[in-house]
Amino acid sequence: MMTVAWRGVPVFVVNRTKEMLAAVVKANAMVADPGTTRPFSMPLPAYCRNEYRSRADHKGILIVVGVCTHLGCTPRPRFQAGPQANLPDNWPGGFLCPCHGSTYDLAGRVFKDKPAPQNLDVPRYMFDSPTSVLIGKDEHGEA
Ligand code: FES
Repeated sequence: MMTVAWRGVPVFVVNRTKEMLAAVVKANAMVADPGTTRPFSMPLPAYCRNEYRSRADHKGILIVVGVCTHLGCTPRPRFQAGPQANLPDNWPGGFLCPCHGSTYDLAGRVFKDKPAPQNLDVPRYMFDSPTSVLIGKDEHGEA
């Protein structure tokens, strides 16, 4: 995972393993809005309306705005699955917001019954080479 600045906010870029993608599928029943029907501050790009919330040609790469949809703190990566401090025993891996305990899965979707009401935003993005991604812009224009 790397964090980059985009328009004054952190954006997480996560290269998910096959196991992490499987954890996203496992989390479907545990998250509040699996299909992101209620996006936070920007529409979910059409090419990310799939179970991994990523582009089909780079489905392992997750790109989300690192701003908690509760009160704006920065969630922290907690990628290790399983029982651990401050997380449920069936934790599939994801992100934990240190401010009030909202948790997000490995696709940035908020778990049920948390203070945060919505999933992390997915900005527009496009790959301009196999190893370079442009955030805030895609084939349809700029965000
Ligand atoms: S700001 Fe993240 S849970 Fe409150």
